[in-house]
Amino acid sequence: MNDGFVRAAGEIAREAGQFLKHFSDHHRLNVEHKGSAYDFVTNADRESQRLVAERLKAAFPEHRFVGEEDGLDDAAVAEILNGDGYCWVCDPLDGTVNYIHHLGLYAVSVGLARGGESLAGAIYLPEWDELYTAGRGLGAFCNGKPIAPSDANELASAFITADIAASSPLLKTPNLERFHRVALAAGSARIEGSACVCIAQTACGRQDAYWNMGLHAWDVAAGIVILEEAGCAVSDIYSDPFRFDMQGGFLCTAPGLKGAFRAVIPHP
Ligand code: IPD
Ligand code: CA
Ligand code: CA
Repeated sequence: MNDGFVRAAGEIAREAGQFLKHFSDHHRLNVEHKGSAYDFVTNADRESQRLVAERLKAAFPEHRFVGEEDGLDDAAVAEILNGDGYCWVCDPLDGTVNYIHHLGLYAVSVGLARGGESLAGAIYLPEWDELYTAGRGLGAFCNGKPIAPSDANELASAFITADIAASSPLLKTPNLERFHRVALAAGSARIEGSACVCIAQTACGRQDAYWNMGLHAWDVAAGIVILEEAGCAVSDIYSDPFRFDMQGGFLCTAPGLKGAFRAVIPHP
């Protein structure tokens, strides 16, 4: 993997994240509903995506770009990411609800995929000034230092995070049932409201696993390569191989917990 791709992802994610932090302190946030009653978008999400798209299109005019705010559905995005060409995938503000409520847990995610594989990516946490980067075969880093997952090897003492996809009413009840089972099995189970923050924290060993049945490719395209290069296991929530069509959701764990969720999140 070309480390210029990793560098570009990192620089652009950081610039967009610093824009978001400044915007939150100095500008008025316009909050709009997207599809459902609890799915929001703000002028900050849109401006952040505009910035990321502009930078990437200038740097890599021959590559495709997909951002969350383009409004493509999961199947359409998967088709592009499974194709032969490079495609950048961006979540310009992950954790919009946290951001609206001035909780510091939000992130910018910029990933590069081709042929169904996540190849390079960056996740930036503006409030912690932490930049997570990775390229396939090049290792995973936080602010330039190598990262590694935790040595957790049993669910009973593990620190797990999850999300229950408030914006997808149909998923709420099954996800709460799954959360109930995981919370009973795990040492500690929490809902933090930003997939990218939880993915970054799993990659660097501050937490032991994260799962979510309501994600989209832009939530995980950067995170997958960061997790795998750090040494974590990535799958769908049933511990089967991950797919960009997102039909099976997303699970990442420290290597010692690989497969440990099979018993608590069984196939429906
Ligand atoms: C959301 C957050 C949330 C998760 C949702 C995501 P957004 O992203 O990551 O934690 O539960 O499934 O869609 O909408 O803030 O970019
Ligand atoms: Ca997101
Ligand atoms: Ca978002």
